[in-house]
Amino acid sequence: MNPLIQIVTEGAARPGPTATLIYDDWYPAMRASKLASRLGSFAGRNRLRTTTLLDIPLVIGRRKDGAVFALRDSCPHRGIPLSVGWFDGNNLTCRYHGWRFEPCTGRCEHIPSLTAADPLDATRIFAQSYPAVERDGTIWVYVPRPGSGRRVDPDQLPAVPALATFSARFRSAHLMADLPCNVDHGIIGLMDPAHGPFVHQAWWWRSRGSIRQKTKRFEPIPEGFRMAAHAPSGNSAPYKLLGVYGQPVETTIDFTLPNRRTEIIRCGDKWFSSLTTVTPVTSSTCRIDVVAAWNVFRRVPLVTPIAKFFGARFVRQDQITMIQQAEGLRHNPTLMLIDDADRPAKWYFALKQARLDGTGNHPLTEPVDLHWRS
Ligand code: FES
Ligand SMILES: [Fe+2]
Repeated sequence: MNPLIQIVTEGAARPGPTATLIYDDWYPAMRASKLASRLGSFAGRNRLRTTTLLDIPLVIGRRKDGAVFALRDSCPHRGIPLSVGWFDGNNLTCRYHGWRFEPCTGRCEHIPSLTAADPLDATRIFAQSYPAVERDGTIWVYVPRPGSGRRVDPDQLPAVPALATFSARFRSAHLMADLPCNVDHGIIGLMDPAHGPFVHQAWWWRSRGSIRQKTKRFEPIPEGFRMAAHAPSGNSAPYKLLGVYGQPVETTIDFTLPNRRTEIIRCGDKWFSSLTTVTPVTSSTCRIDVVAAWNVFRRVPLVTPIAKFFGARFVRQDQITMIQQAEGLRHNPTLMLIDDADRPAKWYFALKQARLDGTGNHPLTEPVDLHWRS
């Protein structure tokens, strides 16, 4: 489950246009495999990792008892990154003045410079902590709106996103790619049906000549929309492969705020499931993560490396296109969204605005058919 693609994007010093960020939700921060295993493998013991989510520097780790934690990577005393301190598997000690923190709550347990006569109660001081959960091999972090108060009630949080699976035994894989564009461009690129024949041309996927008219039914779902269950397009190879089982193939694709696309393909008792997220790293850059699981071809040798190879090629094609697009976006061009191929992108912007404004408005009041050629 190692990431296959992670490139340092060029021109990062010159960030492109920014996007408004959606706070108060769960975002994938990193792969759990970057931390020590639950059993605390000797090599990775007490390892701290850093990342950035929604412009927030984070230090992430796992306590000896297995609990994962995420703290703002900044000591509340003088701001030195906590990640340069010492973590003994239970407590994190700041490198500068030795304040000791319990990492799951962020509570300061000890300030070495205090004397017995000092009235200051160290335990009333907190490093900023964020709810963190491991799910499907990913560390998910809940990111509240900055300045919205320190404590988040864990019982009030929305459910942590999970990859749907449909049998006890399956294979799984993960892919990721950094994208140099803001999260809005990452997301509308993800849901855009019209780029397929141009960006994803390959003998094993499809050719430009295979463009044909498509009609897909979309239905509203809470904070998102669903491309209703349908027989997948016959002009792409992976779906043709599923035909070998001789049963009808059906696929359902959902998009839900803030950034999630789920695709479920079922063919009798065979299934493929994926959860793709586009996560703001900063307000002008994002990262795409794909977690997939399947029981199709489970007994075929090398199926996971082969699937990862083709999956990585596919994601890489999107990544290259977005690197090129980012070059163009630096000059702040005026852009267009056209019907019907860009209608899902319009829905995304409307859903996002409704979330930001708290109106609960939904751009789709009833199921609608969209038509495009791809
Ligand atoms: S800066 Fe962390 S203890 Fe002083
Ligand atoms: Fe794509």
